[in-house]
Amino acid sequence: MSEGRNLAIVILAAGKGTRMKSNHAKVLHPLGGRALVRHVLETCKPLGAQRTVVVVGYQADAVEKSCQGYGARFALQREQNGTGHAVRIARDEALAEFDGDVMVLYGDVPLLTEGSVRRLLDRHRKSGSAVSLLTSTLDDASGYGRIVRDGSGALARIVEQKDASEEERLIQEWNPGIYCVRSEFLFPSLDRLDADNAQGELYLTDIVGFAVADGKPVTTEPVDFHEVAGINSRADLAELEATLRQITVRRHMDEGVTFIDPATVWIEADVTIGADTVIGPMVQLRGRTKVGRNCRIDGNAYLIDAEIADEVHLRSHVVLSECRVAAHGVIGPFSHLRPGADLGEDVHIGNFVEVKKSTIGPGTKANHLAYIGDATIGKETNIGAGTITCNYDGFLKHPTTIGDRVQIGSDSQLVAPVTIGDDAYVATGTTVRHDVEPGALAFNPKPDQRRAGWVAPFRERKEREKKG
Ligand code: UD1
Ligand code: CA
Repeated sequence: MSEGRNLAIVILAAGKGTRMKSNHAKVLHPLGGRALVRHVLETCKPLGAQRTVVVVGYQADAVEKSCQGYGARFALQREQNGTGHAVRIARDEALAEFDGDVMVLYGDVPLLTEGSVRRLLDRHRKSGSAVSLLTSTLDDASGYGRIVRDGSGALARIVEQKDASEEERLIQEWNPGIYCVRSEFLFPSLDRLDADNAQGELYLTDIVGFAVADGKPVTTEPVDFHEVAGINSRADLAELEATLRQITVRRHMDEGVTFIDPATVWIEADVTIGADTVIGPMVQLRGRTKVGRNCRIDGNAYLIDAEIADEVHLRSHVVLSECRVAAHGVIGPFSHLRPGADLGEDVHIGNFVEVKKSTIGPGTKANHLAYIGDATIGKETNIGAGTITCNYDGFLKHPTTIGDRVQIGSDSQLVAPVTIGDDAYVATGTTVRHDVEPGALAFNPKPDQRRAGWVAPFRERKEREKKG
């Protein structure tokens, strides 16, 4: 940014958001899986401000917690006496010695782009204005503060809806509430505010009138309505969610991801996807999910906080949460990878297989109907259909360890804690209660018996019973 001036960012986030009809502060509601206020912090991050202050009030502790990781300071506004009051508190609690430009943003305006914020800051600094603000237009700007201009088109003041005359209410240019103000003008101006208005609040907007009256330069910069649409209700939230979804999918397409049906995917804001990955219909990628390059996700998949390496194939109907899949893995259809599932390269997990808190070595396969929990499995092992790790005794969970190149026969139960050595074989239908040494065969003697001619008399007896 120009001229090496300092920058402070003030994010107003003290309000309750009454129209949300919620027990949670408005700025904590998620949009694209990310709290509203975090969208604003994320947008500001690249500006490299010397100081970021979040004004908190309603549910201050929870709001502060959701702002962690951005190096922000907090100013507590106990009563919400207006936007001017909020900035005054930010000044007193966190900007006492600050000298430079102060940018004011709202915690409930999540789609504002870095580009627009930079444009505003740039215009502000190049023009040497005391106050610069974004303005937008709407056919009907009801509810918003209106931009009042004089005969020559110069900004005169901002009038709030409730204070506006009939004529002023027809003005289509409105104030989104995003400002850049020189601190030497802002700080004393905050002491000039009074509550002599329809809402009995300290209006930050009044500083624009002060600047004009003092003959100080004021600049406006246009911004697209969609960027500054705020959130006041659940309906607004859903509308912005749809907008953000389109923006997010478009961003991934621009970065080389193919979507077969972009309208039916749901991708949250923090998700990353590598180039040449192809994503089918009905796919949800949530939380901090990372998908590598050249992956295929066939469809109907739900991933949350999952890490998928390159060239992985997720077949239809898979659920993955807090787990990792290394390169060339093949998962599904109908697989469930639960927290702590950590799969090595080339692992295949198939139909109706559930994996929880288990490490599985490269090239190992569990293709049908298995439960693998609290297990450590080596490489190139085969887990037969219907294998169960019996990890829970009703009180504690116990580990199962399986070596390399092991064959677990179908329908076996491995009663933990138990260890099965490298190259061991477990025969079909075995209940393994003791460790199996490397290279050994484990089996339960179960004689395979016959009763010749048993069926016919059995059926006759049953038919008689049925007739009574
Ligand atoms: C304000 C502007 C109005 C503008 C509108 C855009 C003023 C006087 N008016 O309206 O010109 O068109 O925003 O949405 O500034 N907040 C606090 N503490 C407070 C009051 C508000 O932190 O005491 C926060 C709210 O949590 C919210 C934001 O500031 O994030 C805006 O508050 P809101 O009440 O929605 O805006 P208005 O004052 O109605
Ligand atoms: Ca208000």
